[in-house]
Amino acid sequence: MKDFMIELFADYRTQIVFFHVISAVVWVGGMVAMKFAAHSSFMRIESPLHRLERISQALNRLFMIVLPFVVILIITAVIMAVGLGFRAAAVDASGNVIDEYAMYIYNIVHVKEVIWMVMAANLAAMIFRRNKAQKLLVQGDTAGAKESLALIGKYMVPLNIALGIIAIYLGVTLRNAY
Ligand code: HEM
Repeated sequence: MKDFMIELFADYRTQIVFFHVISAVVWVGGMVAMKFAAHSSFMRIESPLHRLERISQALNRLFMIVLPFVVILIITAVIMAVGLGFRAAAVDASGNVIDEYAMYIYNIVHVKEVIWMVMAANLAAMIFRRNKAQKLLVQGDTAGAKESLALIGKYMVPLNIALGIIAIYLGVTLRNAY
């Protein structure tokens, strides 16, 4: 499997990095557009029910669009992490550090993996909350739906935007590391 990934990355390097970057663009860019463009426009809708219905529908569209890119992002990430040989450059077969700088770079790969995991878990929690809000809207519980959706807009989307920006910065760091 390891050899396959190394060969795959060697043969399709440009395409793999492209799919990684475009996935980050869609995921992070989609959330930025929702938070800073669509949201303020939705807030102008006067009827609370109508407003929440539009927000809920737009969030559902966004989440369904980003989901395949979240998967592509992690697949390309694993291929790159193995294909670029970060571990082999940092530690020997028994796990002893052989190069301090390579170890520092290898740790950045780990930080990116943790960031992806937190972002994916946060996205799953947002999908769960949005679905709950949608059910409440159908039942006519506007206040309950508002409470569920408010947390997504106020904290959960901004958290993923911030983590996404950090991951992109670390990606540029990795790209310039060798
Ligand atoms: C599983 C976790 C991840 C790993 C192991 C990983 C690994 C990498 C590696 C090795 C590179 C350098 C590619 C090269 O030198 O050709 C890179 C670049 C990049 N990564 Fe990630 N990544 C991960 C998650 C993410 C996430 C969550 C985002 C953003 C949402 C992201 C955005 C980027 C971007 C934009 C670049 C391109 C930087 C450039 O071209 O200068 N990555 N990543």
